[in-house]
Amino acid sequence: MAWRHLRDWLLALLWTIASVEAADVASPNGFAFEDGKTLLFTIRSNIGEEPQKAFVTRGNGNRPAPSPNEPLPAVYRSDLLDELPDTVRRLDKTYMVAEMRVDRAVVMRVVFDVGDYPDSIDQFNWFSPSRLIGAWPYRLDDVAKFSAFSIEGDANKERRFFIATSFDGCNGDRGFWLVSGARDPCGWGRNGWKGLAPALIYNRFKDRTLQQGAAYADQFLVYLTDTVDEFRAEFRKPFFHAERKQLLYTIKANIHKSALETFRQQQNYRAPIDDNLPILYRSDLLDDLSRTVKDSGMTQMVMELVKDHSVVAQLVFNVTKDVDSLTLDNWFSLERLESSYPYLVDKTKFNYFSLDGDVGEQRRFYISYNYGGCHVDAGFIAISDARDSCNWANRNWRGSPPLLLYNRLQNKPFHAGVDTADRMLVYLTHEVEDRRWKFRQPFIVDGDKQILYTITPNIGKEAVDTFKHQQDYPIPSDRSLPPIYRSDLLDQMDKTVRRSGRSKMVAEMRKNNAVVARLVFDVATDTDSLTLLNWFSRDRLVAAYPYQISKKIHLNYFSVDGDTSLKRGFSVTDTGKGCDNDLGFWIVTDRKDPCNWGSQGWKGAAPVLLYNRFRTAPFRTGVDYADRFVVYLTNHVDELRPEFTKAVPVW
Ligand SMILES: *[C@@H]1O[C@H](CO)[C@@H](O)[C@H](O)[C@H]1NC(C)=O
Repeated sequence: MAWRHLRDWLLALLWTIASVEAADVASPNGFAFEDGKTLLFTIRSNIGEEPQKAFVTRGNGNRPAPSPNEPLPAVYRSDLLDELPDTVRRLDKTYMVAEMRVDRAVVMRVVFDVGDYPDSIDQFNWFSPSRLIGAWPYRLDDVAKFSAFSIEGDANKERRFFIATSFDGCNGDRGFWLVSGARDPCGWGRNGWKGLAPALIYNRFKDRTLQQGAAYADQFLVYLTDTVDEFRAEFRKPFFHAERKQLLYTIKANIHKSALETFRQQQNYRAPIDDNLPILYRSDLLDDLSRTVKDSGMTQMVMELVKDHSVVAQLVFNVTKDVDSLTLDNWFSLERLESSYPYLVDKTKFNYFSLDGDVGEQRRFYISYNYGGCHVDAGFIAISDARDSCNWANRNWRGSPPLLLYNRLQNKPFHAGVDTADRMLVYLTHEVEDRRWKFRQPFIVDGDKQILYTITPNIGKEAVDTFKHQQDYPIPSDRSLPPIYRSDLLDQMDKTVRRSGRSKMVAEMRKNNAVVARLVFDVATDTDSLTLLNWFSRDRLVAAYPYQISKKIHLNYFSVDGDTSLKRGFSVTDTGKGCDNDLGFWIVTDRKDPCNWGSQGWKGAAPVLLYNRFRTAPFRTGVDYADRFVVYLTNHVDELRPEFTKAVPVW
């Protein structure tokens, strides 16, 4: 009996010594970690420890290793929790923080002020709305009333450290987080359980139910600290990408995250440490964009879509304009739009040009200028945050937002030109590299002619299509005319004409370096209304060669598009009378023509440059084929065979 007593006594003694060892008696300052924080409690998820018990048990767990690179222990509880008033005063720490982390990154955080009236705090009551001074990633201090806010929480369901805003059944419950000590009756809690306590359950979204927003952390911490400045400082540091770009946001496609939500709400994704961008990053600097822009000294805000490491779509906004009124939303606006790539957003009327975009379809960051059904919807860009009802927007959906969509084709419906990118970026910068500057350089030949377009026959490119859309053919260094060339300056004809100081636009067919047919248009009159297509009109025509085109003569086509059903572009014709009788000045055909006089020039590839040598002949007898078509601006149209052009002929 005595021996048994003695043994029990010895065991108790050993136990006490072990407990003292594990506790903080040897270190009255507690365990300092991460630059000035004093750790009071931590528990890892799903380790088979009941959280409430772990939190109150003296000497629980192992002290963390003193190196910041070591992971925090699975469970640790400091005895300083039993002497909080004394500890707070002695360590001069003002804030007590509870935090959840995933992979060592903070995902949720609540901050309490313990500097005021420290004598009244104990290990439970610091965790209360009355001491609450901040919460991340969203605010809680504007919530009028909490349904739960305590460490004890809901004792029946073992929902500890529970912060809830309303109870409305499993599907309706709202709240910030909880540390669950039991298999929860609700699916949003149970999913984090994995058979062992605790489950660290948090809600990613302020405006969503726990059912909609629940996610699961792997570490819960309570610590003391003396500065709140550090909170989210890491998310407010300017981060420069590719040297000159201050990255504010980036997201990859199809990562199960809404682009608009993650853009608008604070996130906890760490700033990248190099140019390897994470799947998602959002800087808190977006929340005060006006100040951010002023502090950065940057002038442009860029939204960009990237595919296979190349920029495929880009919008550049002027953020120095009215910088004081700049917000998270209004930078993305027509008023601020400075340039776009791969082509100019040249519309003036839009049905959507905003971050919210089409709310019903969740087409965000949306620029659309036409609706009329899925095959008609036309625009520049759409970030799709939900499965769309239109095929053009959902065909690459893969069950997960966001889908990063852009339209490769200017002024065409999305369904014709849509493509997907793999990353979206938003950043500030000084000078956006003008990705197409070289296609906007004046290409001047023969002293005065500013070449805007040229094409040679049978090269397998359609003339009308290449004329209407941006091409990537460089200006040859020797300034010789290449087989095909198109200047981006065509997209802003009004500006181009004014800047060129030239008054005439010429379209010309050549053969063996001699002009064989020519139309001269006046572009000095009503220059503001000039467009890519309307300069080529009978109204602006002032001269023609080798014969004039009388105003009296009947023409059924005089336009760049011409007879689209037969792909007869740049048509100046009076057709529809049958192949034998069709009349006209010239045509650039982009398909094998049904009439012999056209198809003979075809040779298996577009285009065919055909012109009519004789004013009075049908194409059948007058046709000949040129070897170059050129469009240029000039002031001086050489007189060719003036003896012919001076007459007032009828065709
Ligand atoms: C941006 O807007 C400011 C203020 O309106 C203006 O002075 C500046 O020239 C604009 N920048 C560009 C590149 O258009």
